[in-house]
Amino acid sequence: MSNESVGKTLVVAFSVCLVCAIVVSSAAVALRPLQNANIEIDIQTNILAAAGLLDESMPVSEQFESVQVRAVDLNTGRFTDAIDPASYDYLKAAKNTSLSSSFADLGTTDIAKLGRRENYAVVYLLDDAQGQLDKVILPVRGYGLWSTMQGFLALEEDLSTVAGIGFFAHGETPGLGGEIDNPNWKAQWINKEAFENEELVLRVIKGVLPAGAPGAESTVDGLSGATLTTVGVDNLIKFWLGEDGFRPFLDNLKAGEV
Ligand SMILES: Cc1cc2nc3c(=O)[nH]c(=O)nc-3n(C[C@H](O)[C@H](O)[C@H](O)COP(=O)(O)O)c2cc1C
Repeated sequence: MSNESVGKTLVVAFSVCLVCAIVVSSAAVALRPLQNANIEIDIQTNILAAAGLLDESMPVSEQFESVQVRAVDLNTGRFTDAIDPASYDYLKAAKNTSLSSSFADLGTTDIAKLGRRENYAVVYLLDDAQGQLDKVILPVRGYGLWSTMQGFLALEEDLSTVAGIGFFAHGETPGLGGEIDNPNWKAQWINKEAFENEELVLRVIKGVLPAGAPGAESTVDGLSGATLTTVGVDNLIKFWLGEDGFRPFLDNLKAGEV
């Protein structure tokens, strides 16, 4: 067979493909643990950032050591061992009919446009130096204009005052709905009150609340030019702090009955 023969060309091309395939798949397999570790660090970073606790000078995993990760049954509002928080994926659970509920079954409107609501959630609890509850960080999500915005809402130990909010995944337009990532907008949330006389009052409005207007302590100004994203954030707060979200859990936690 001469070097220019079709057979030899095919053998060389096949050999090159085989070697490349082996190199690429070995790299993918070898790097998987590293990728998973990075995903874990990324989630932990977002959780700490939402609560305003991220200390850039310390490794995230070290800071996260003081965070208790617990699974909650959203139907009962109590801690559960039914799922493993380490491997739980709420998006997958929401697509699995045995791990989620339809909104018809829940008897409510799907205001956050979730499709289905998972039956379990993973929450994060932080204690202060005296071992008393200091902050609770809740996963929240809901549809904006283009995408499901996924994030965390942190509450102080009174389970009403907002400690912070942050979205780690969304597809809203940079400069418009994407301003949910703007630190100035997120700063507005801090110290807002979620509940007043047991009623959910935290809201995000279209536009800006005039100075001195009533309700300022529980109102976040909307994003200009991005009313649909703003409404999406308002709805996701209403849903996740409501009866079909974390309200039963927050009530139980307050009563010391989780
Ligand atoms: C290219 C493009 C991207 C947009 N992205 C967003 C967005 O991410 N979020 C949003 O609420 N509105 C977005 N809008 C604007 C909406 O279509 C709508 O006009 C707006 O939400 C109304 O808000 P306003 O009443 O504050 O002007 C976008 C519009 C265009 C043309």
